Amino acid sequence: MPITINVNGADHDLDATPDTPLLWAIRDHLQMTGTKFGCGMALCGACTVHMDGQPIRSCTTPVQAVAGRKITTIEGLASPVAEVVQRAWNETQVVQCGYCQSGQIMSAIALLERNPSPTDGDIDAAMSGNICRCNTYQRIRGAIKNASKQLA
Ligand code: FES
Ligand code: FES
Repeated sequence: MPITINVNGADHDLDATPDTPLLWAIRDHLQMTGTKFGCGMALCGACTVHMDGQPIRSCTTPVQAVAGRKITTIEGLASPVAEVVQRAWNETQVVQCGYCQSGQIMSAIALLERNPSPTDGDIDAAMSGNICRCNTYQRIRGAIKNASKQLA
């Protein structure tokens, strides 16, 4: 029986088993490849998406767990905070190889949606689950502060 999930404002009927990871549904079934696979074990944050506005790891979330919820991926960002964060990312020239960055941006937006003026400690706590092998952490922090100023 198909499972219906709502991604970026649209319902999608998937021919998938209930335990299919949301990440595979997004990438393989819906062909939205902005969300990345890193570890597959909820350890790196590359696969971060929003479920009802909260960041979740799509690699370890089965599709049955998101039925009736609203999933947003990097392709579906549209909020004013998301716009500011993406601009700040560009202004701060955060990206190196880019592989981790969609997950980083999803976590940063979720942080700033709930706390537009985060302290360094708030930023570290919110972003600690997102790993960057290119070590862009200082620029990520700078971009979040840049976005926070623009949101003030
Ligand atoms: S791929 Fe999901 S946390 Fe690493
Ligand atoms: S920019 Fe390369 S892994 Fe983060």
